[in-house]
Amino acid sequence: QHGVFAYDPGFLSTASCASSITYIDGDKGLLYYRGYPIEQLAQHSDFLEVAYLLINGELPTAEQKAQFVSTVKEHTMLHDLMSNFYRGFRRDAHPMAVMVGVVGAMSAFYRDSSDAFDPAQRDIAAFRLLAKVPTIAAWSYKYNIGQPFMYPQNRFSYAENFLYMMFATPCEEYQPNPVLARALERIFILHADHEQNASSSTVRVAGSSGANPFACIAAGIASLWGPLHGGANEATLNMLEQIGDEKRIGEFIERAKDKTDSFRLMGFGHRVYKNMDPRAAIMRETCHEVLNELGLNDDPLFKLALKLEKIALEDDYFVKKKLYPNVDFYSGIVMRAMGIPNSMFTAIFALARTAGWTAQWMEMIASPEHKIARPRQLYVGPARRDYVPIDKRV
Ligand code: SDX
Repeated sequence: QHGVFAYDPGFLSTASCASSITYIDGDKGLLYYRGYPIEQLAQHSDFLEVAYLLINGELPTAEQKAQFVSTVKEHTMLHDLMSNFYRGFRRDAHPMAVMVGVVGAMSAFYRDSSDAFDPAQRDIAAFRLLAKVPTIAAWSYKYNIGQPFMYPQNRFSYAENFLYMMFATPCEEYQPNPVLARALERIFILHADHEQNASSSTVRVAGSSGANPFACIAAGIASLWGPLHGGANEATLNMLEQIGDEKRIGEFIERAKDKTDSFRLMGFGHRVYKNMDPRAAIMRETCHEVLNELGLNDDPLFKLALKLEKIALEDDYFVKKKLYPNVDFYSGIVMRAMGIPNSMFTAIFALARTAGWTAQWMEMIASPEHKIARPRQLYVGPARRDYVPIDKRV
């Protein structure tokens, strides 16, 4: 039994099941996508190649990759009416609230890729999700700051295109910084998939009924938004800004240990990793690279994060509970250095995780053993009893 319900075979065969996509060894801190170590993919691959690997199971040949990238680029534009959805939000709407709404709205537009049980429609849905979610995410930022939407430019790579849609304006030329674009490709790769986390399980359970794929991905976005999950990257930055000075680190460590007002050290701990999250180590390295490129080696928040990690990992509480930095501990520092606001961090996590959610949704719905998820609960309520008329109740 886990939490509120016991897994029954029907549930296990659908939502939290055997999968061949991502392998994690939490004790050793290992993470493999289709058997390839995350360290090698982060170093040598790019995001669309990793998306191909997650969805198709193998690294693409040069020809397969070129075809895959060109098909994604055919779908980067949004139906023009979709831009109207943004104007229904307040200007200060959180980007994740916008993404839940607009990605969900894709189910009202792209009806020739909505039948989950039609393999051809599933493929188009996958391409549309990979192609359009970055545009939807970037436009939620543009809407927040009152700047015009920038349309995707297919001459750019995936990460360059995202930087363009985030930071270009119609008034002047914009050329993405190649070092930042490379770092962003790596950040997307690190976030692409992670086995049966809360949001991937949400997509599997929602998708198990044969529901519209875009609506299922919107459900995953909603789950990821929580501060205990993908929302932790934004919460970590907010926490570091609240700590402000190395002299206050001890105060926050004690709050976490005493569980004062249920405070937790954001970016620390993990349900599966009882060792360093391999993604955190790569993210720390990426921090160094990006800050160096931007001449921000003395970034006070990065220094604070390094110090906090050191102090926490020397503290008995964290050592005994095997609480290490996770993927969210350093990612916000990198993205903030790139000029990305805290409120966009989880939207970028969702953008990248769309590859893993899509791969897991396709694996689940295409499985010959596919069944609708129907978990049972462990009933702990009152035994049978008879109705009491209201005038007899005390
Ligand atoms: C992600 O599942 C995934 O794979 C998720 C993810 C992915 O790629 O999809 O890896 C992405 O969500 C990473 C996690 C981001 N969240 C945070 O950084 C938020 C802070 N972390 C914690 O809330 C917590 O560590 C969780 C939610 C991540 C894990 O929760 P668990 O495994 O249920 O841990 P727990 O609550 O059972 O904690 C065990 C003990 C508890 O103390 P006791 O009850 O035993 O006394 O450790 C303590 C917790 O209070 N603890 C912490 C802590 N994390 C756990 N104490 C202080 N600070 C923390 N961060």
